[in-house]
Amino acid sequence: MLLLLAISGQAGAQPAENEGRHLGVASCAGGNCHGAVERLKGSSVEQNEYLTWSHRDKHSKAYSVLLEERSLRIARNLGLPDAKTSELCLNCHADNVPQNRRGPTFQITDGVGCEACHGGAEKWLGEHISGASHQRNLERGMYPTNQPAERAVKCLSCHFGVENDANKFVTHRIMGAGHPYMGFELDTYTAAQPAHFKVDETYVKRKGPVNDVQVWALGQAVGLVKHMDALMDPQHGPKGVFPELVLFDCQSCHHAMTQLRWEPRSSTRLPPGSVDINDAYGVMLRVIAARVAPEAGKSLSQHLLALHHATTEGWAAVQREAGAVRKAAEDLMPALASHNFTRDDMKALMEGVIAVAPSGDDAAYSGAAQVTMGLSSIVAAMKSLEFVTADQAKAMNNAMNPLYDAVAHDEVYQPAAFVSALQQFKKTVPQ
Ligand code: HEC
Ligand code: HEC
Ligand code: HEC
Ligand code: HEC
Repeated sequence: MLLLLAISGQAGAQPAENEGRHLGVASCAGGNCHGAVERLKGSSVEQNEYLTWSHRDKHSKAYSVLLEERSLRIARNLGLPDAKTSELCLNCHADNVPQNRRGPTFQITDGVGCEACHGGAEKWLGEHISGASHQRNLERGMYPTNQPAERAVKCLSCHFGVENDANKFVTHRIMGAGHPYMGFELDTYTAAQPAHFKVDETYVKRKGPVNDVQVWALGQAVGLVKHMDALMDPQHGPKGVFPELVLFDCQSCHHAMTQLRWEPRSSTRLPPGSVDINDAYGVMLRVIAARVAPEAGKSLSQHLLALHHATTEGWAAVQREAGAVRKAAEDLMPALASHNFTRDDMKALMEGVIAVAPSGDDAAYSGAAQVTMGLSSIVAAMKSLEFVTADQAKAMNNAMNPLYDAVAHDEVYQPAAFVSALQQFKKTVPQ
């Protein structure tokens, strides 16, 4: 039901939140609930979710990072008195619901707590602790984090921002003030959190099967929709001469002058010297669509090209073409959600991703990072569905490490290291 809502025009919009109060992490972390060291007999979930979150998940440190010197520096550069009291920082670094929606054990210092993702618990906690089904929890207002498109909307509300909320969006100005680069890929980030759920038999019985490639595909579609929403939002249009630069490819502007690259862009056919819109999600989605829904894929490719060329025309043209790209991405979502990805699909997608990977000295960071994470999702899917032997999986996993190293830090990213790691990876793609 919620997925349909997303498709019908709200993907990427701030998801409808249930109105209930947020009760705080303490209300989930009881020893018989999600704060157990091990599963109690008969429980369908791991029950150690709180321990995973508090010990290994950066979300539990998201508030305390605002007390550190690097956050104070960002705040100072932005002219804010402080980071830990600033709405701009709290909206993503904590579960910053209004005072009247905070329960007695709610603590802002919990950072990105359980309810920041799973929704305020007031309305569903009662039935939930007496063993309500997942469906019933959802009906009572738990957020459907198990649905890939809905999960993407939730994660991206912080990992990209909400396009029309100036207090929940990391602009170029905030990046310049010292905020780290924000990349995101749904499947990889879900695993890296790290996941506090296990897709075993009981999980599948309760929530349905999980396919990492599908999670990747839907995450790319929602990411593209949100990026287009941001281009279309008046808030990000030109103020003075320039529009919001965070929506563009950073290396168009940021690269050493010793690094010569005066060449037409091979993918967009724009002339040298152009400032490119960041199209990393679009490039991945084109590859996926070519396999899953070729006609819709062609339309997406045409609109993406038109979007790039619109930057030479004017902002109104950019907004118009962003709308067309957004629609093409949305139109693809039902096909992505229902496609049964086979071994052949996955192999073709791997080859497709490698073929469109940025190459040469101008390999954009955002594109390289998306290629790396996309490949990592396909490897995960092939492994979990046993589409490859243990040896093949090991070879691919080993070859992923240099790719990850190459894109680990945007500030010191070297295109050549990425290009050579990708060539090595290519040799491990199973035949
Ligand atoms: C739109 C949401 C958003 C806003 C607004 C935002 N942040 Fe962040 N911030 C993030 C996300 C997401 C990350 C993690 C990025 C990653 O590693 O992929 C992050 C990372 C950081 C980090 C690095 C943390 C680490 O562990 O390395 C610091 C420091 C930081 N933010 C400070 C701030 C400060 C200070 C403000 C307010 C001026 C702020 N942020 C506003 C979403 C946001
Ligand atoms: C950053 C987002 C996020 C935060 C924070 C978060 N979760 Fe989750 N949680 C997820 C996602 C994504 C899933 C997997 C999809 C699903 O099954 O809903 C999940 C799944 C679960 C599950 C279901 C496991 C299963 O087998 O069905 C439980 C239980 C859970 N989380 C509890 C917690 C608790 C308790 C906290 C706080 C200590 C917490 N979560 C914090 C995102 C989050
Ligand atoms: C309320 C805002 C918010 C939501 C929702 C959210 N995140 Fe985050 N996430 C953050 C912030 C802020 C950080 C940085 C925390 C830090 O480093 O101190 C972060 C960090 C992370 C990191 C660590 C990144 C790194 O560089 O190590 C991963 C992985 C991650 N988030 C995954 C997810 C996933 C998956 C979802 C959706 C299920 C999600 N997040 C939802 C705010 C959010
Ligand atoms: C259209 C060109 C353009 C694009 C695209 C662009 N920037 Fe910038 N950036 C600039 C300019 C101009 C400055 C200011 C330089 C100065 O004041 O010396 C700047 C400054 C910065 C700074 C501060 C550097 C310093 O010297 O303190 C950071 C960090 C930064 N940008 C990050 C990014 C990131 C990350 C992206 C991509 C998401 C990006 N920029 C995209 C032009 C651009």
